[in-house]
Amino acid sequence: MPQYQEKTIVTRVEHLSDENVRLTLKAPQIASACKPGQFVMIRAALGKDPLLRRPFSIHQADSSGHIQVYFKIVGRGTDLLAHLKVGEEVSVLGPLGKAFTIDKDRPVCLVGGGLGIAPMLYLAKEISRSKTGSTNGDLVILGGRTKGEVEPVMADFDEIGIRTLATTDDGSYGTKGFVTELLKSSDLPANTQVYACGPEPMMGAVSLWCEEQKLACQVSVESVMACGMGACLGCSRPVGDGKYVHVCLDGPVFDARELKWNS
Ligand SMILES: Cc1cc2nc3c(=O)[nH]c(=O)nc-3n(C[C@H](O)[C@H](O)[C@H](O)COP(=O)(O)OP(=O)(O)OC[C@H]3O[C@@H](n4cnc5c(N)ncnc54)[C@H](O)[C@@H]3O)c2cc1C
Ligand code: FES
Repeated sequence: MPQYQEKTIVTRVEHLSDENVRLTLKAPQIASACKPGQFVMIRAALGKDPLLRRPFSIHQADSSGHIQVYFKIVGRGTDLLAHLKVGEEVSVLGPLGKAFTIDKDRPVCLVGGGLGIAPMLYLAKEISRSKTGSTNGDLVILGGRTKGEVEPVMADFDEIGIRTLATTDDGSYGTKGFVTELLKSSDLPANTQVYACGPEPMMGAVSLWCEEQKLACQVSVESVMACGMGACLGCSRPVGDGKYVHVCLDGPVFDARELKWNS
């Protein structure tokens, strides 16, 4: 699979809430090679602070050569990225990691929690593009702590035409509660493929519920990453029996049954 270290140009910076930013980058090589679920490593600054690139899921990619990332400002790297201006140059490495597997003949349920929403937009678009039949049975569930995490991206999901439900912990947008509650009450067909990305406890809960219901579930997981390419051993994750996987190479997308979850 081709990977590029590309000098990209910032074409749009959207501050969707106080903490959440969406960055559009002109990255023709990466945009033409990437698939939903893959990620990029972005160098936040030209100097040595911070030295390491930061990993971000690909939020959208289009045929005009643009990619988007949707992120939360949590530290120095994301703060620098949030202050980029249109026309500035940013070094991006990607696409990296394993993508989601799409079966165009199955109903799907996409579950995104918090910034786990980021890869779900690209995935939903690709599913809608690849399906020849109806998407009536398909469902997207988006959840966040509060309105600012979910509401700004709802219009993008609505445009795709897949039924999309929102939930927030504080009830400020959509229903009040967790994505898992909506998932459990949604009466999914037996052959539904569930896709999930979000905080670890959320993905653990989704994975265990899918296992009980005998529903296939793919998850995109996060870990601290230094290289993103299998060289630093920084991203290992237990899979049980004392064995580990590299999230950057073996993931970030896994069949949920492959991973060990704390119940
Ligand atoms: C494959 C992958 C895809 C990701 N996709 C996205 C995305 O689409 N949108 C998004 O907002 N974030 C995403 N992340 C997390 C993102 O990489 C981190 O938020 C970012 O690296 C923080 O950089 P920083 O310099 O701002 O923060 P730092 O100064 O490095 O850290 C600030 C705080 O954030 C915590 N933190 C740092 N990295 C992570 C991490 N990977 N997971 C949880 N907490 C972390 C630190 O422990 C610390 O408390 C992804 C991570 C991975 C591994
Ligand atoms: S991030 Fe370096 S090995 Fe995975």
